[in-house]
Amino acid sequence: MVKVLFVCLGNICRSPMAEAMFKHLVKQEGLEGQFQIDSAGTGDWHIGNPPHQGTLDILKKYQVSSEGLFARQITPEDMEQFDYIIAMDDSNIQNMYKISGKQEGRNTFRLLDFKQELQVKDVPDPYFTGDFQETYDLLTEGLEALLAHIKQEQAIS
Ligand code: 4NP
Repeated sequence: MVKVLFVCLGNICRSPMAEAMFKHLVKQEGLEGQFQIDSAGTGDWHIGNPPHQGTLDILKKYQVSSEGLFARQITPEDMEQFDYIIAMDDSNIQNMYKISGKQEGRNTFRLLDFKQELQVKDVPDPYFTGDFQETYDLLTEGLEALLAHIKQEQAIS
């Protein structure tokens, strides 16, 4: 079982969108039995809340299920237990290091670093930009590259 955790700041916009989209992608490939997929935020403001309406709307637009998405805060245990911790931007990684008290993470990555051709490396936060479409489009590219990377690394076909 490959355990993947998506991380953003509030866990109501980007990382739940990524969680839902990655579950959808993995299911399309018939690989759902081989993955555990979750998301969390580094902040605690929205614990227990459903995703932002903008995230729910864009997932609905593309017929991606938003079932079971409720915000939670990342824990130091998460950082030990997940195989791939996928941050939306660099500040998420710095915040995770503050929470874990560590300055590096063997399993911690920034999503768009998997998509080397892209100039943009941080997924813009639609909580501030209001542009959920831009976030969805970048996540589509990043998540496809992430799945290809994991499949190769874990010898999944
Ligand atoms: P997210 O966006 O990190 O993509 O979930 C945010 C959501 C809420 C807040 C900040 C970012 N906030 O400050 O409440």
